Amino acid sequence: MVITTTIAADSDEFLYCTFASRYVRSPVPRFKMPEKSMPKEAAYQVINDELMLDGNPRLNLASFVTTWMEPECNDLILASINKNYVDMDEYPVTTELQNRCVNMIAHLFHAPVGDDETAVGVGTVGSSEAIMLAGLAFKRKWQNKRKAEGKPYDKPNIVTGANVQVCWEKFARYFEVELKEVKLKEGYYVMDPVKAVEMVDENTICVAAILGSTLTGEFEDVKLLNELLTKKNEETGWDIPIHVDAASGGFVAPFVCPDLPWDFRLPLVKSINVSGHKYGLVYPGVGWVVWRAKEDLPEELIFHINYLGSDQPTFTLNFSKGSSQIIAQYYQFIRLGFEGYKKVIENCMENTRVLKGGLEKTGRFDIVSKDVGVPLVAFSLKDSSKYSVFDMSENLRRFGWIIPAYTIPADAEQIAVLRVVVREDFSRSLAERLIWHIEQVLEEMDSLPIQMSTKAATVKKQLESTEGQKVVKKSEKEMQEEITRYWRRLVDGKRIGVC
Ligand SMILES: Cc1ncc(COP(=O)(O)O)c(C=O)c1O
Repeated sequence: MVITTTIAADSDEFLYCTFASRYVRSPVPRFKMPEKSMPKEAAYQVINDELMLDGNPRLNLASFVTTWMEPECNDLILASINKNYVDMDEYPVTTELQNRCVNMIAHLFHAPVGDDETAVGVGTVGSSEAIMLAGLAFKRKWQNKRKAEGKPYDKPNIVTGANVQVCWEKFARYFEVELKEVKLKEGYYVMDPVKAVEMVDENTICVAAILGSTLTGEFEDVKLLNELLTKKNEETGWDIPIHVDAASGGFVAPFVCPDLPWDFRLPLVKSINVSGHKYGLVYPGVGWVVWRAKEDLPEELIFHINYLGSDQPTFTLNFSKGSSQIIAQYYQFIRLGFEGYKKVIENCMENTRVLKGGLEKTGRFDIVSKDVGVPLVAFSLKDSSKYSVFDMSENLRRFGWIIPAYTIPADAEQIAVLRVVVREDFSRSLAERLIWHIEQVLEEMDSLPIQMSTKAATVKKQLESTEGQKVVKKSEKEMQEEITRYWRRLVDGKRIGVC
């Protein structure tokens, strides 16, 4: 494509400017704002060209986040892209749509609100912000109670599984709450409710259960947690509540396991977060947090401002944000309805089964994810003495697939898995093609002439030099453990990339 600029005089320098090359002859601005302007077409071309090197979102199987919406909704998004959500007086309809979304989600999660009663909740940028808000509400409620009882209130803690998403670690660090994690073990990769309840004490502001563990998609047993915690509260006189992090499972369970009690049907569940941009089927970033009742959200956390028109209550970490995602969420709710969401999720489940079946057929993998859970397949290599899941992940990139490999947190670090998230836009034919590519990668890596893949060999060499070990002959199992340990060090920071 030839860039034709809007500069009036078609001087030679503009006439011969193809692919914005005239502007990228000097380095692309990276540190300082450029002194001079450039034509809009050139700016577009420069940026568009660089962006071509990003991965293809539709093939990004690392993420739960929505990558496809209907064109009608894309139109709505574009039309509202310039509306600041916080200007509630100026955009009252947008505010009304967010309130309707909160009501619908609260009803979906069985909040004890009447059919035409308003529920308590707020739209956020995602589940992370929602979790910060829910966590703050628990912390403040606990502090108020402790103050009233004349007891110390400076050492709050929260109990979770070691499988929590990084946003819980952020909450703990940013808002000075100790994170007490229940360790996992080989073959059991979610929070054990028995151990969680053993860990609570008078300073526990809440126990957070996950509906759809990020790592394996498995639903934690919130019902058992509720039972055990109720008993503990009765015995001790404490009043420890439950938060459910339903970031991905909140828009899965209601449609495919409606009889599973994980939500406000359980009395100790006081708040729930869900990501609208995951199985809520909206582009990033929208999330939601809903509270069981008004008294579960301390009034002093809500700010009231009036300089934009009327009195506006706000309880979010950021002030301004776009309206588009809220509008898109409302579109999905009324466009799909319960029936539509059910069909989409059932389809995802079916494609998950196809993928799982194909992987099992190779005889080469252990499936780590469970049948009841978020539609994803997490799987490990039965034999990783020759190459690892990290090698596989890298090789699958060749076909365009982005499939993360990672190790499970403590105490199951020795398990390394690949995870494929099945979203609405991951069709049956893509699932079949992926299986085919995985078989191809297996075949190619099996036929490698060396004992281990190059990557594993490099890792081993580095292991030996970094640890100053003498080269001693190790068993295949020991070798694999070392390689996994090394990979863990390499990818530790990357766990945050799994979302
Ligand atoms: C269980 C869980 N909680 C919280 C989050 C954070 O969600 P968000 O990306 O919407 O902030 C994720 C992201 O994957 C998640 O899986």
